[in-house]
Amino acid sequence: MLVAGLMSGTSADGIDVAIVNITGIGWRTRFQMRAFGSVPYPPAVRHRVLEIAGGAAVPAGEISQLNFLLGQLFADACKEVCRRARIPLKNLELIGSHGQTIYHQSRDTKYCGHSVRSTLQIAEPAIIAERTGVTTVADFRPADMAAGGQGAPLVPFFDYLLYRHPRRGRVVLNIGGIANITAIPAGGKPSQVIAFDTGPGNMVMDALVSMSTNGRLTYDRNGSLASKGTISQPLLRRLMSLPYLREAPPKSTGREQFGRAFVKQYFGNLMSSGGGATSVSDALATAAAFTARSIVAGIERFVLPRFHVRECIAAGGGVKNKFLMRTLRESLTELRTPQRSDELRNNMPQHINIALQLDEQTGLDPDAKEAVAFAVLAYQTSKGQPTSLPSATGARHPAVLGSITHLHNS
Ligand SMILES: Nc1ncnc2c1ncn2[C@@H]1O[C@H](COP(=O)(O)OP(=O)(O)O)[C@@H](O)[C@H]1O
Ligand SMILES: [Mg+2]
Repeated sequence: MLVAGLMSGTSADGIDVAIVNITGIGWRTRFQMRAFGSVPYPPAVRHRVLEIAGGAAVPAGEISQLNFLLGQLFADACKEVCRRARIPLKNLELIGSHGQTIYHQSRDTKYCGHSVRSTLQIAEPAIIAERTGVTTVADFRPADMAAGGQGAPLVPFFDYLLYRHPRRGRVVLNIGGIANITAIPAGGKPSQVIAFDTGPGNMVMDALVSMSTNGRLTYDRNGSLASKGTISQPLLRRLMSLPYLREAPPKSTGREQFGRAFVKQYFGNLMSSGGGATSVSDALATAAAFTARSIVAGIERFVLPRFHVRECIAAGGGVKNKFLMRTLRESLTELRTPQRSDELRNNMPQHINIALQLDEQTGLDPDAKEAVAFAVLAYQTSKGQPTSLPSATGARHPAVLGSITHLHNS
């Protein structure tokens, strides 16, 4: 089946489109990527998405309008990538659209006297299906939440499919707006997978760049600003003591926690101290170190006490930030065997050398990974196959993810 995966992550940098050939089912699924492309959001749209996802109070009418507009943009992005790759749209059999998350509350919260958790991804699937003429699967997260899960992360199904290894424990890392890991023990079963958001990926850095340039720049290209800066150790210590890092998985986070309000609260002083280029670079170096250290802390606290890990395979936009990747590599080599379990310690080397490699070494474009993952998830859904891993989301049982918009064949 030829399937398109459409994805826009928490960075809201644009719509990623992967066209994927898929065969088989469940753990016997095979796939091959045929094309990939990214279509940036128009600046005005990105601005509104970031504001709304950042918690701005907006009338319901605006969310409704944005939902339909994003539906158009997602459909057009899909058509554009097919056109560039010379794949006739009529050859597409299915679309899996993650949509754009504008709200994600993964834990029960009191609301109108009831306990409620909820999530909202927009980019109207009826518009996508109509404009492309292709059956569309969307709204992947709610079914997992309905089953008592956090609705995230959903990529672990794909990670396990692609990266499980009979003799090597692996951590699969994605550094998008938020950073998340999927840890798979050597020869492990899906029920042994540990997956969670470790904390921010690029989100804090992106906010610092955009705030200090009045929106002129949106990210620190290749980490070049950060590499001119000095890490503020006191601030890094404060950041590393945030309660989220100590919470046990399953856990997921987002712009609600690490958005602009957070950046103002923690980086306000540093940014206003000099206001100049040095303080921006220092802030970026510190934010990058926080991302790297919180990833490594997540592995150290919640993965290594359970099983041995030999490799960390990284993808997502953050892998292009050289300063971040250098800091991550250093922190990974400083990892030591956890002191907690004697039994485990006796069977493990004192120093854990986790080799860091990029996704492309496995033949998958690191920018394309999440879009490919949602093509694969949509394909499973169309066959009635569940794809959520309760070990990752905390749900009571696996769920068939998503809602399907069928087309009338006249
Ligand atoms: N050349 C680059 N140098 C540094 N950072 C980059 C580069 N390219 C992309 N990024 C970072 O990656 C982010 C987008 O990553 P992505 O994986 O698309 O995240 P998301 O899934 O949240 O959309 C950008 O916002 C930016 O911070
Ligand atoms: Mg993106």
